[in-house]
Amino acid sequence: MKLNIALLAGDGIGPEVIDQAVKVSNAVATKFNHEITWTAALTGAAAIDAVGEPYPDSTHEVCMAADAVLFGAIGHPRFDNDPKATIRPEQGLLKMRKKLGLFANVRPTFTFPSLIDNSPLKRERIEGTNLIILRELTGGIYFGERGRKDDGNTAFDTCTYTRAEVQRLAKLGFEMAMTRGKRLCCVDKANVLETSRLWRETVQDMEKDFPEVTVSYEFVDAVAMRLVQWPNSYDVLITENLFGDILTDEASVIAGSMGLMPSASIGIHTSLFEPIHGSYPQAAGKNIANPLATILSAAMMFEDAFGLKEEAELIRSVVNKSLAEGIVTEDLAGKNKAYKTSEVGDWLAKNI
Ligand code: IPM
Ligand code: MN
Repeated sequence: MKLNIALLAGDGIGPEVIDQAVKVSNAVATKFNHEITWTAALTGAAAIDAVGEPYPDSTHEVCMAADAVLFGAIGHPRFDNDPKATIRPEQGLLKMRKKLGLFANVRPTFTFPSLIDNSPLKRERIEGTNLIILRELTGGIYFGERGRKDDGNTAFDTCTYTRAEVQRLAKLGFEMAMTRGKRLCCVDKANVLETSRLWRETVQDMEKDFPEVTVSYEFVDAVAMRLVQWPNSYDVLITENLFGDILTDEASVIAGSMGLMPSASIGIHTSLFEPIHGSYPQAAGKNIANPLATILSAAMMFEDAFGLKEEAELIRSVVNKSLAEGIVTEDLAGKNKAYKTSEVGDWLAKNI
């Protein structure tokens, strides 16, 4: 099969972890006789420095022409420390999500048998955890009207959702639940927010179309609590943009390191695959960052964008093997030898 992939390495550790995902993907392509064409393009602070814009039109064209986008990370501390900066790397990510129509962000949380004791939670709390948070990605408070009034002394951000936006996200959630544990949790704040009441009403109306799925409705504050108490009690959770942003960071550490969890963003045009972690600027250029989240994102890409399940499973199985044999970066090494980012990538490619 010919795979035409846009490669957006981005900022911080992005380029280092992306390099490993490319190595591993190329090894898979050789083994299964696929032909990958990688087309690199600029995003984030790297793009601001080069062309003054975090998601240039030229990058958008590369993404639209590709079958899938593999993305590293975006963000740079020199913008975080300057609240008055008008151009920010993160705007590139939001613009990319909007222009590619990536309305659904799939963020799984699962455990690795050999890493259970790395989790901040007790073994009995997390064993068997395998959940997916499906986060709405192109609506809500992230994209609502915002501004200042009263001479700058009052600020506002508005959260708006349409029934159609809720329906398309919820439909994916129901369909995903049907392929898994058939349980769907709608996470909202319907005791306070009107947008949440629209979410709840819309999802309730859809229940009849998916009679086999058991749906629960929970308030986001309660879910924040239950996620650390009994993460293994959830199957698929659907939620709006900001709640999903917060809950997915919370869920991402359950597995034992931020550097492990992959994600997919899907929607109208090309799907995008990226690690959940950010640009980790303190580690940039040091060859110490954990590449597994990006490599597992490449596995999701093989499976979801190209239907290549066996290829994806091979990547996951060598990742598990590397964890079991302790071929890991410093975040997971404990007292044992820590391998470099590139060494982990080399080991995985060789084992494929
Ligand atoms: C994420 C990130 C982004 C978000 C930032 C970088 C804009 O935190 O992908 O979760 O808030 O969506
Ligand atoms: Mn986030």
